[in-house]
Amino acid sequence: MTSPGTTDAARAAVATARARPGTVAPASTPTARDDSASGARLATSARRHLLSVADLGRDGILEVLHLADSFAEVTERDIPKVPALRGRTVATLFFESSTRTRLSFETAAKRLSADTMTFTASTSSLSKGESLRDTVETIDAMGVDAMVVRHASAGAPHRVAGWVRASVVNAGDGQHEHPTQALLDCYTIREALARRRSGDAPDDFAGLRVAVVGDIRHSRVARSNVLALSALGAEVTLVAPATLLPPSLEGWPANVSNELDPVLAETDVVYLLRMQSERMQGTFVPSLREYAARFGLSRERAARLAPDALVMHPGPMNRGVEIDAEVLEGSSALVTRQVHNGVPVRMAVLFLLLGAAPGGLAAPEAPR
Ligand code: NCD
Repeated sequence: MTSPGTTDAARAAVATARARPGTVAPASTPTARDDSASGARLATSARRHLLSVADLGRDGILEVLHLADSFAEVTERDIPKVPALRGRTVATLFFESSTRTRLSFETAAKRLSADTMTFTASTSSLSKGESLRDTVETIDAMGVDAMVVRHASAGAPHRVAGWVRASVVNAGDGQHEHPTQALLDCYTIREALARRRSGDAPDDFAGLRVAVVGDIRHSRVARSNVLALSALGAEVTLVAPATLLPPSLEGWPANVSNELDPVLAETDVVYLLRMQSERMQGTFVPSLREYAARFGLSRERAARLAPDALVMHPGPMNRGVEIDAEVLEGSSALVTRQVHNGVPVRMAVLFLLLGAAPGGLAAPEAPR
């Protein structure tokens, strides 16, 4: 995702709206199917979809984060909406439960003025035996531009991308990846570092020590975050009992520790993961109580962190297991900020994949 024109186009959209509150006329935003280097529509097939953090690389990650800065400004307005994707349709296809990811994508699409469609597996013809392929081809035939897909099977969004004309965004596939979660986490860290240093948001995380703690074995969030954080230069340590680590750590650019306590004092960011019991076949820890005693971020453990350390969790949380309620109330906890930042980050992703509305955006529209 490295087309400088795209970011310029989005900045123009945002800047024009700022200059003329109430109307948005980003005349320089490229048209919908513009595949040129300056176009918002990304050219290669890897860029037509967002399936893995590896599709992006460092430059692509930074392009999303920079664009998200522009959209963050939009989300702070009284009317937090621009017509950048007017005439486009974004369908959310969740074959697995979700609260924040689904609502965040739907909010992002609406703030870009796209139409949205919601597919819920339990009330669909899947319950009549329809296959995944027939389901997504049916939705594609209605003319949607993007499908945001969550599925319990690793690789499902990749398969969908091979069947449909629409752009596909992976919103979590089994234990494999959750790229937009990693992007919003990097955005949140970058924002917190800028605040703490009273400077510009850094594009380089060199020297930043991140501990990812907990059920790494079953976590798509862990895999995407390790890829994204290490691409930006952070040093990542996976902290978990051996049973909660993946069978092979090949391809994971990270250190490993089987204890949390020795890592605490040397950590800038503690990223806690939920115990994902719905993905567990068998017993991975003797009891949740024992797990919490060794790996939970209690008040006592949090007190041993550096004063400016950051605490993160993708949610949903099990309070009292991976994190204590009092720690969440402290100023180091960024959990709500992560959710907040999900919207501009997903706006950036949708904008990069779909570009501008057909015919350009010259006609001003009073945001509703
Ligand atoms: C995560 C997910 O579903 O992968 N949550 C999220 O998207 N914010 C993490 C989890 O389920 O534990």
